[in-house]
Amino acid sequence: ATSIPADDRVPDMGKRQLMNLLLLGTVSLPTGFMLVPYGAFFVPPGGLGAGEGTVAKDAIGNDIIATEWLKTHGPGDRTLTQGLKGDPTYLVVEKDKTLATYGINAVCTHLGCVVPWNQAENRFICPCHGSQYNDQGRVVRGPAPLSLALAHADVDDGKVVFVPWVETDFRTGEAPWWA
Ligand code: FES
Repeated sequence: ATSIPADDRVPDMGKRQLMNLLLLGTVSLPTGFMLVPYGAFFVPPGGLGAGEGTVAKDAIGNDIIATEWLKTHGPGDRTLTQGLKGDPTYLVVEKDKTLATYGINAVCTHLGCVVPWNQAENRFICPCHGSQYNDQGRVVRGPAPLSLALAHADVDDGKVVFVPWVETDFRTGEAPWWA
């Protein structure tokens, strides 16, 4: 069998690649132009980054208004709300009757049961395998390996807004395992 000399192959390959490039260029250029307005349609009002937070919802799905919430939830209260990605998240009322700036994700770090707040014990106690967390969600008894996840609880335009917590976990001084 005779092989084609390299000198004959290379120019041919080069020509084909050039053709491909030209073809790709023709096809992708208009597509690129179309994507710009299409994408802009989905930018939320208020600019980029505004979509990061989620308005906290109460048990029946209404937006939580901070002042209204504080009328019916006293100092030390920890009540489940709907948080980031729909995760059950405790909204915390501090002893001075203000909203805590953090919410506590109620999903147990062991196998994912929703952990109820136990006012009498001042702890979150998981009904599934007995893990316990202190009043800020820091794990104090296993089998849960990690503390409950945090979210920032901000007030924006009167509404409670949860924002992903990516900073150091103030309870442990460690990087957040959930971020
Ligand atoms: Fe909570 Fe196992 S799921 S202790």
